Amino acid sequence: MKVTLIGGNGFGKLHGESYKQLGIEFSVYDRNLEVLEYYRKNYGVKNVFDNIEDALHSDSDMVDIVLPHKMHREISIKAMELGKHVIMEKPIATTVEEATEIIEASVKNNVKFMVAEQYNFDPSLNKAIKLVNENKIGKVHTIIVRDQREYKKTGWRSKKDQMGGGALIDGGIHYIETILDIGGDYRKIDSYSYHGGSSLEGEDTTVALFHFVSGSHGMFFYSWAYRDFPRLPSYEIIGEEGSIYEDVQSRPQEEFKSMTGIRYVYGNPVLNGEKVEIHKEDVFNLEIKGFIDSIKSNTEVPYSHNKAIRNLKAILDIYRRGD
Ligand SMILES: NC(=O)c1ccc[n+]([C@@H]2O[C@H](COP(=O)([O-])OP(=O)(O)OC[C@H]3O[C@@H](n4cnc5c(N)ncnc54)[C@H](O)[C@@H]3O)[C@@H](O)[C@H]2O)c1
Repeated sequence: MKVTLIGGNGFGKLHGESYKQLGIEFSVYDRNLEVLEYYRKNYGVKNVFDNIEDALHSDSDMVDIVLPHKMHREISIKAMELGKHVIMEKPIATTVEEATEIIEASVKNNVKFMVAEQYNFDPSLNKAIKLVNENKIGKVHTIIVRDQREYKKTGWRSKKDQMGGGALIDGGIHYIETILDIGGDYRKIDSYSYHGGSSLEGEDTTVALFHFVSGSHGMFFYSWAYRDFPRLPSYEIIGEEGSIYEDVQSRPQEEFKSMTGIRYVYGNPVLNGEKVEIHKEDVFNLEIKGFIDSIKSNTEVPYSHNKAIRNLKAILDIYRRGD
């Protein structure tokens, strides 16, 4: 399997580390020559491209797209029309129409497509959901999902049209994934998205109340405009007979910054006051290996299109309500 990583600069580096750890040959596109040098020097990458068309036309079987959101549709469809399988960073796209076109192109060109959403593979979150399904806390009545930080973003990230919004469609999508994985389908969302003083053109803070079909409720908070922010559990699941929440102490301190060691998202679940031990796995290796295995065996990709579209729809629902 030959892979071309399209967009090596930021998060592309974490994918590059996975290809190395999985022993998969890869080439890289970036418009910044220093970034290409990084891959030559640290990963011994031989084929590098500073022209995206050359990268798309290379002899790879699969491309891995790590580009600004507004480019997702165009570049993924071009790659599929050239017969490449495509894995692409979240969000799937900036509108449901774009997302649908991407999925249709994968069907038409008979290639696999998957959004890279590492939170789907997180061992702590998946264990927490399993414990709920095993009825360890009784009927769930309330779910709390939150994340807060102070980000001063520049470049394409600060531009609303490049992002398709603000903080919510970027980092916030992972926490939408989390609350919907726990809560399931929702009847409606009451929400407010607003600007809390960051450098973004789009919104930087969202508060939302999810009314789930199950009858439970979800409180959601996400912000890039929180000075001196506290470290708090990112998920709490409160049932009639118990509770599960994230143990913040066992959450990685550096949030994927470290290229070595096992990269995962949340600290261990705490079930009814007791920390639950879990088998830690590298979420990036799981998503990338899972995608490659699905190509080799021609089976379903491990992260479904439905979930990628579900998350985008929830975000656009929240954006439609505005502030
Ligand atoms: N899963 C996660 O936790 C996570 C975290 C960060 C970023 N991401 C995603 O990764 C993607 C890229 O984000 P990033 O943080 O790596 O951004 P970045 O700015 O660090 O890198 C963007 C890449 O796009 C290329 N690029 C930008 N504009 C271009 C243009 N006009 N033409 C050609 N190439 C262009 C750059 O060369 C660079 O390689 C986004 O989809 C983002 O949401 C995911």
